[in-house]
Amino acid sequence: VIANKALRKHGDQFVKVHVNLDERSYDILIGSDFAAVLADSVVSGSRVLLVTDSNVNAIYGDDCEAALRAADLKPFRVVVPAGETTKDLSFVAKLYDESGKAGLGRKSCIAALGGGMVGDLAGFVAASYLRGVKFLQIPTTLLAMVDSSVGGKTGINLPHGKNLAGAFYQPVRVGVNLRTLESLPEREYISGLAEVVKYGVIWDAELFGRLEANSDAVRNRDPDFMAETIARCCEIKAQVVAMDERESGVRAILNFGHTLGHALENVVGYGALSHGEAVAVGMVYAARLSVEERGLDTKECDRLIELMIKLGLPVSLERAGIDDLSWSEVRMAMSSDKKSQDSVPFLVLARELGSVVFGCEVSEEQLEAAYRAVTLKEG
Ligand code: NAD
Ligand code: GLY
Repeated sequence: VIANKALRKHGDQFVKVHVNLDERSYDILIGSDFAAVLADSVVSGSRVLLVTDSNVNAIYGDDCEAALRAADLKPFRVVVPAGETTKDLSFVAKLYDESGKAGLGRKSCIAALGGGMVGDLAGFVAASYLRGVKFLQIPTTLLAMVDSSVGGKTGINLPHGKNLAGAFYQPVRVGVNLRTLESLPEREYISGLAEVVKYGVIWDAELFGRLEANSDAVRNRDPDFMAETIARCCEIKAQVVAMDERESGVRAILNFGHTLGHALENVVGYGALSHGEAVAVGMVYAARLSVEERGLDTKECDRLIELMIKLGLPVSLERAGIDDLSWSEVRMAMSSDKKSQDSVPFLVLARELGSVVFGCEVSEEQLEAAYRAVTLKEG
């Protein structure tokens, strides 16, 4: 099953990307107001538990709720604290309770207004409350727009680690209001750019080239350039997910840069390093291994490093503000990653920009040597 490649423009209202998953198919609408991208997403008259975090609620809660009312829906707003620690079981219980109070039925809906934290949490509740109610994603961070809101991974953190309890559960619509990017803190925006660059490396060398040629427009959040770029990223993710919804194969390519990235996040603790910053360093690591193991041209590896520097992303641990982190600790964290088997990490490596291979095994010596390369002071 291949997702529809065409981006269809609907006047000035929105751009549509279709995610083709048989009866679980849905559209991603990318526009510049909530009403346009949320219209006709859920049967009119439905109750909607609108879940958002405290930061997002203060800026967009009222507008979004008004758009749901305008679409003839009945919103019940629940505000949870902002921050990754909210993505846990106690808030799942709270949202079950709120769903009960709001009188949600099987045809009702849970909507997630916010970044990946709110999307993953509310999505998990939507997947399990009454064995599944409709789920609407309204992403407000760049990371959520290009990655976490698309593809159906939902879940929460457990004391033993990140995202350990979850479900594949597709939304009925992803409604992207691009204007929400305007208020996103700079560090969050830049963090999301790591995933944008990732799509260039794993799938689309032309996208990579456009990012290089327009790095100022990217940094300045140019609305037209970013609308097109976000749509292209969603289209790529839609294609990959349509080929392998449950990650039995090719979906693994979305983890380019994430093997070291996740390990770094685990070792330094969430917060000191954002997800995108960790993935950026992880992509340099994977690119260096790719030069050794898959014949990636050194010039292409250098282009990746230069682009990330231009976009404000760290390309070494030092640039990420992290001092000496022992290889043994990082290596151990790689072993406990969900995607490792018997302590062996399976990496995604690049043959060239726009083309990657998944499931690559690399010798212990190579794994360590590439780590040295991303810890070099001049890196
Ligand atoms: P987040 O949801 O915590 O948001 C980051 C910060 O930005 C928060 O403080 C939030 O309140 C604030 N914020 C959000 N939108 C804003 C806006 N428009 N203006 C001002 N402030 C705004 O973080 P995130 O980076 O979006 O998501 C990270 C989460 O996503 C992690 O839990 C990660 O595990 C998950 N994730 C899931 C997937 C998936 O496929 N499901 C993929 C990648 C990441
Ligand atoms: N974020 C990786 C995936 O959705 O598979």
